[in-house]
Amino acid sequence: MEVLFDKLAGYKKEDVYPMHMPGHKRNTKLFSMPNPYAMDITEIDGFDNLHEPEDIILESIERARKLYQADHTYYLVNGSTVGLLAGIMACTNKRDTVLVGRNCHKAVYNAIYLHELQPVYLYPEFNGAFGCYEQVEPEEVRRQLEEHPDVRLVILTSPTYEGVVSDIKAIAEICHERGIPLLVDEAHGAHLGFHPYFPESALHLGADVVIQSIHKTMPAFTQTALLHCMDGIVSNQRVKDYLAMLQSSSPSYVLMAGIDQCITYTIAHKDEAFAAYAEQLKDFYEEMKQLRNLTIYQGATSETSAWDPSKIVIGVSGTNLSAEQLHERLLYEYKIQLEMISKEYGIAMTSFCDTKEGYERLAKALLSIDQKTAKVEKQEETTPYCIPRLPKRKNAYEAVHAPYEVVPFAEAAGRISAEYIYFYPPGIPIAVPGEELNQELLEGIEAFKKAGIRVRGLKDETHQTIRVIKRT
Ligand SMILES: Cc1ncc(COP(=O)(O)O)c(C=O)c1O
Repeated sequence: MEVLFDKLAGYKKEDVYPMHMPGHKRNTKLFSMPNPYAMDITEIDGFDNLHEPEDIILESIERARKLYQADHTYYLVNGSTVGLLAGIMACTNKRDTVLVGRNCHKAVYNAIYLHELQPVYLYPEFNGAFGCYEQVEPEEVRRQLEEHPDVRLVILTSPTYEGVVSDIKAIAEICHERGIPLLVDEAHGAHLGFHPYFPESALHLGADVVIQSIHKTMPAFTQTALLHCMDGIVSNQRVKDYLAMLQSSSPSYVLMAGIDQCITYTIAHKDEAFAAYAEQLKDFYEEMKQLRNLTIYQGATSETSAWDPSKIVIGVSGTNLSAEQLHERLLYEYKIQLEMISKEYGIAMTSFCDTKEGYERLAKALLSIDQKTAKVEKQEETTPYCIPRLPKRKNAYEAVHAPYEVVPFAEAAGRISAEYIYFYPPGIPIAVPGEELNQELLEGIEAFKKAGIRVRGLKDETHQTIRVIKRT
C-alpha cells in the first residue's frame, strides 16, 4: 500500500518541474524548515493567538500589513476561500443585492449562498481567440449600478487565472461615488505591485477589501492567504468577527510561520528578487517569439485593462494539438507539470522562486512541441467557458433547497438547475443553481468533456444526470 506521505516524499526524486502553485516552487535552496513535527504547537504560553493577536503573531501580521501598505491585514489559514466568505459577509447584510463578476470563483458563490444575497452579474468581455475572459469594463459597472441602485457591494476577480487585470482604479471611483465598497478577489495577485513589470495591486487603486492567496504566487505554504482591508466604508470589526467565526480556532503554527517566512524574505529581498523575476519572464517571452503554431497570450485586448505576465498562457487554438495533449507531452516528455488546462490553452504559473533551469526546460519543450504541431482551420463551436447568459429564475439559496427531480443531462435544456456546474480549475460556475439551462450550454459542456476537461459540482459523479427544480 502506498501512503500519501511516501508518495510526496518520493515525488521530489521524479524531478518534475512545478509550473504550478504553491509559489515557493519547492525551491528548498531558498526556503526550508526543520521537521514540522518539532514546530507544530497550539496556543501555548508565549506564542500568541491568531484571533486576538497581541504579541509575536501581531508583530508578524504588522510586517505583512506594512509590506502591502494596507490599513488592516489578516492572516488566513484556509486560503482565499475563507477570506472571500468573511469579506463578502462582512460587507453585506442578509439578502442584500450585490454586483458580481460572473467569472468569480465558486467561493464567491458560496458566500452569496450563505448570506442569501441577490446577485446581479457583470459579464466580462470574452476573448474568443484564447477562450478566456477579459476585464470587467468600468462603464459596465457604472451602467449596472445606475440600473440597480440597491447594490450594496461590488465583487470582482482581478487578476483572473489567466492574468487579466481590470481597471480597478476607475471601478473603485465609480463604486465610491455611490458609497459602495469594492471587494477584489486578488487570489492570483499577491505578487502585484512589487515591481513595475507587474501591474499595481487593487489595494493601492482604491479597493476596500482585497484577498490574496499568498500560496499561489508567493513563497508560502498551500492554504495560506491574506485579507487586507482599507479604512473608510467597510467595518473592520465585522471582517474580524466573520474571520473569528469561519477560521479554525486552532490555526496551524507551521502555516503561520510559513507566511512569516514569506513576508520577512520578501521585505529583505524583494527588489533584487523581483528584478531578476521580471528579467527571466522578459527573456522567456522574447524566446517564445519563435513559436509558429502555438500562441502565447500577451495581454488583454482593452486599453483599460492590464495584464499580469506571471501567468504564461499557452494557446493551442487553431492547431492540431489539444490542450490535453500539450499537458501530457509537457509532463511525460519534458517533466513539466502545468497549473491547469482549459479547452484552448494551458497555464504555466510562475513566481520569483522559479529557477533558470525551469524556464529553460519550458522554453525548450514549447519550441520543440511547436515544431511538431501544425495549423488547422479553427472550427466554430460553442464553448461554455464563454458563459451563456442564463436567465436567473431563482436565487441560489432558494434553488438549492427547492424540491428537485433528476433528469438526464441531455434533456435538461429549459429546466432550472438545482446544482452548480463548473470545471476545476478554474472553479468558475458555468451554471449556478436557479439559472435556466439551455442547449448551447449543454452542448458546450459536452465539447469540454470530449477535450478531457472534467466537469465538477454535479451530485451524479457519472455526469449522466442533473438535479433540476421540480415543475409545479
Ligand atoms: C480566482 C480565485 N479566487 C479564489 C480562489 C480560492 O483560493 P484558495 O485556494 O486560496 O482558497 C481561487 C483558487 O484557485 C481562485 O482561482
